[in-house]
Amino acid sequence: MAEQRTSIHGQWSSRFAFILAATGSAVGLGNIWKFPYMAGENGGGAFVLVYIACIALVGLPIMMAEVMLGRRGRQSPINTMRTLAREEGRSGLWQYLGWGGVIAGFFILSYYSVIAGWTMAYFFRTIGGTFDGVTAEVAGQVFGNLVSDPERLLAWHTIFMVLTTVVVSRGVEHGLEKSVRFLMPALFIILILLVGYAMSQGAFMQGVHFLFDADFSKLSADVVLKAMGQAFFTLSLGMGAIMIYGSYLPSDASIARTTFTIVVMDTLVALLAGLAIFPIVFGNGMTADQGVGLIFKVLPIAFGQMPMGTVFGGLFFLLLLFAAWTSAISLIEPAAAWLVENHGMNRIYAAVACGMAAWLLGVGTVLSFNLWAEVTLFDKTFFDLMDYLTSNVMLPLGGLSIALFAGWAMSRNASQDELRLKLSYHLWRFLIRFVSPVLVALVFLNAIGVLSFGRG
Ligand code: TRP
Repeated sequence: MAEQRTSIHGQWSSRFAFILAATGSAVGLGNIWKFPYMAGENGGGAFVLVYIACIALVGLPIMMAEVMLGRRGRQSPINTMRTLAREEGRSGLWQYLGWGGVIAGFFILSYYSVIAGWTMAYFFRTIGGTFDGVTAEVAGQVFGNLVSDPERLLAWHTIFMVLTTVVVSRGVEHGLEKSVRFLMPALFIILILLVGYAMSQGAFMQGVHFLFDADFSKLSADVVLKAMGQAFFTLSLGMGAIMIYGSYLPSDASIARTTFTIVVMDTLVALLAGLAIFPIVFGNGMTADQGVGLIFKVLPIAFGQMPMGTVFGGLFFLLLLFAAWTSAISLIEPAAAWLVENHGMNRIYAAVACGMAAWLLGVGTVLSFNLWAEVTLFDKTFFDLMDYLTSNVMLPLGGLSIALFAGWAMSRNASQDELRLKLSYHLWRFLIRFVSPVLVALVFLNAIGVLSFGRG
């Protein structure tokens, strides 16, 4: 056995606390805001099926690898990768995996915070009665008015970034862990209530068919890449968030079992969100391809009609905000921890510095919905570019590198020592060495046009 390291940042109080925190990171806007509109834009069932396949074949083994590397290194991803590479006698270049992750984290948080701001704005609109008896048309206008107003977006973006910074500055046990203990269960309950409401709608089965009937003619190289990107995004993989959460995991906890729980919960929340949303979409004569505004245009209609809708609606957006919050902290924790480790910075300063950097970058996303709506690069606005670059390029490449390190660069002894699996170790090792990297590489190369499977 290697010498036991401890993290200077602290540790989760239990295995359960880790599950909550990592689930808090995984479950967020990705499940409730992004998954439904991505499924809606990319044809429903076929997208969902590819997404689930990516979760199982790529996401699960890579999440185990990330937790494993994190717990073994017990430092920020940059230093963890440097330490482990040295230990395994590998190139120091592996630490750039950590650097890439830090950059991806800033990019993601910059726009994540803007969208989280929308949920705050919607919380106040909902409890204020804006949506009482609202029609699809008016709900669409309310959304349009919000995003076309840069000052409002900026104000909410700023508030959310402050909230995120506060939690990160309070550290592992008092900030991160405390915030998730009751939020995650509450979110689950509200979602189930919403699905119950959707079931009482005439169009429930239409929603089910949309989500689960696979029409493979809708698949293209780009749609498959998007499904894979979404699998990385929703599980918080490929940038070191799960790695650093793993670095706070007590040594005696089983990585396989905790990881499996997290993946199942995350997938359930996404599917429940889809089941809540699409029946309302179709029941109100709307189409699924409403883009980033989907849940903001659709759910208010339901809240406006159902009994106690202001209460449930308000609660829903509040919980969504909390879900976003527990995810956002994991996006800058790696960078903040690195500042503490390498620059001896006080955690509070480190968190504030990271929050400010992400905030500044987020101004680009704020403007991309209004003043800069016409400013595009490769046909993408600033927000689209950030989203595409992170989900579809940086996270898959990060995940690929993690798989290669864990499967090939690291010795069998080291990974076995950390995972402590019996028979299933061989399955994990097979997946992480061959299946995950090959799938990620194929999907990636195919989508950027180097390969051409399934092209006409
Ligand atoms: N998984 C979160 C969501 O679905 C977002 C998130 C948090 C994330 N940390 C991450 C995405 C790290 C990628 C990498 O909302």
